[in-house]
Amino acid sequence: MRLGDPRLLEDLKQLGVEVRPGERLADWTSLGIGGTTDLLVVRERRYLSELVQRLRRAGVPFRLLGGGTNLLVADGELPWVVLHLARREPTVSISGPHVWLDAAEDLGRAVTTCARANLGGMEGLVGVPGSVGGALRMNAGAYGTEIGSLVRRVELLRMATGTLEQVEQSAVRFGYRVSSFAPDDIILGVELELVERPYAEIVERIRAANVKRRASQPLNQKSAGCIFKNPPGLSAGRLIDELGLKGFRVGDAMVSERHANFFVNVGQASCADMLRLIQLVRERVYRTYGIELEEEVILWVN
Ligand code: EPU
Repeated sequence: MRLGDPRLLEDLKQLGVEVRPGERLADWTSLGIGGTTDLLVVRERRYLSELVQRLRRAGVPFRLLGGGTNLLVADGELPWVVLHLARREPTVSISGPHVWLDAAEDLGRAVTTCARANLGGMEGLVGVPGSVGGALRMNAGAYGTEIGSLVRRVELLRMATGTLEQVEQSAVRFGYRVSSFAPDDIILGVELELVERPYAEIVERIRAANVKRRASQPLNQKSAGCIFKNPPGLSAGRLIDELGLKGFRVGDAMVSERHANFFVNVGQASCADMLRLIQLVRERVYRTYGIELEEEVILWVN
């Protein structure tokens, strides 16, 4: 979607927004897939509520892009603009075992910054790509740690009311790759409670998580992490692998040879290719095991 109206563009500038016209979201997602739209980089958080209201008044639909690492975006001209929070310094501030992380901070970097302050507890998350805000919304998890279990407080912009809120941990529910935030809440930051540990011990835990991840996941290929959630007590990757589907492809969208629940873009895959691959694999799993796999990846396809 292109914002043609010069008055709207001028207003956005006043609200501290950098408009990047006609960005390819393929350049903003780890899958390297996604069509074009105007990208609004939010540089001044204090005007965010006003910005949202301004877009609503102008009838401009929008979505919020975090790290783009768990996302499959439609091809072609997209029917909404995309907001993206610029990183805001300081992105990490530490007080005892409590750490405040800005939503736009990179999750892996947050883990290593905390490690340098002798704070552990999130070592398993070190290789999970994406932003802190995105990780929180999805309740990202790996190697026994889910970020939701560490949360004390979340700062967010409640779009329904346009208010800035500090939400206590007890008011948020986290489940397996889900949280109770409203779809249009904008997460701005989070306070976590970490564990004080010697630096060397944290580094060793980080190293162990990295070794496991490198051995089992296609880290040097374009992917969105796992495509499907694991069914209770089972592994989607193993189910797909047992069907002999590693290497199965639609165009340039392929089931990873290394981990069957990672679907990779090996060239110029389109969203349509990836969706077709998802559908075919889901059908095969259903026909063989009677199990309906549910996507873990977020779809921006309509
Ligand atoms: N397996 C296979 N073939 C495969 C893949 C896996 O046989 O192609 C087997 C493995 O040998 C293992 C079992 O399936 O016995 C489980 O595999 P793995 O340890 O790789 O874990 P997973 O359940 O596939 C989950 C998360 C990952 C997370 C890892 C490590 C989901 C959907 N996936 O994967 O998260 O990194 O555990 O904790 O919950 C993500 O969220 O995007 C993601 C990648």
